[in-house]
Amino acid sequence: MITIALAKGRLADHALDLLEKIGIDCKQLRGKSRKLIFTTNDDSIRFIMVKPSDVPAYVEYGTADIGIAGKDTLLEEARPLYEMLDLKFGACRLAVAGFANRKASGITNTQTRVATKYPNITRNYFASKGENVEIIKLNGSVELGPLTGLSDVIVDIVESGRTLVENGLVVLEEICPISARLVVNQVSLKTKHNEIKRIINGLKDLLEGE
Ligand code: PRP
Repeated sequence: MITIALAKGRLADHALDLLEKIGIDCKQLRGKSRKLIFTTNDDSIRFIMVKPSDVPAYVEYGTADIGIAGKDTLLEEARPLYEMLDLKFGACRLAVAGFANRKASGITNTQTRVATKYPNITRNYFASKGENVEIIKLNGSVELGPLTGLSDVIVDIVESGRTLVENGLVVLEEICPISARLVVNQVSLKTKHNEIKRIINGLKDLLEGE
């Protein structure tokens, strides 16, 4: 049996669409059930529904053989996994955003403050530019950072750009493009090679045909 860790939330439906197209029965996962573990009728695949940022941990430890998560999560967690496939959905970008003039009103600190759900990505990005910033880890609604004066700027994902526009903020610097990726546990790729390859090749053919 193969265990797949699926990120709950915005990526889940797209992931299920793709898996169904390669013949995996995902019907049980489509409902509003609060169940966290589902097994296909033929017992070949078990799904665990995890918080997006936890997908890499489940795959690293082999609790899941395969995971589907955003590249943002993979970069932030930086765990030893095999990234096998760009699934192309969930496209967005990681960016530094804030007020067009970069300074939030009322902020008197000299060191730039950055609010983000991604402290590791943020540290690495600014370090690569030789900039020393103060990072404030938030867990959501990070746009509030500049709006309230908590931070000068944010590092966050921008998808449609609506959240920024509706809050009077702009993209200041692009960090990198993001999309959903399929990752595999390093041991599972050897021990369950055929089953995992069947899934990966099915998805690859599907994506190349689209
Ligand atoms: C994400 C992200 C931005 C928004 C970007 O937040 O952190 O706030 O979506 O999308 P947009 O460019 O299409 O407006 P999410 O909806 O995951 O909620 P959160 O702020 O609670 O993390």
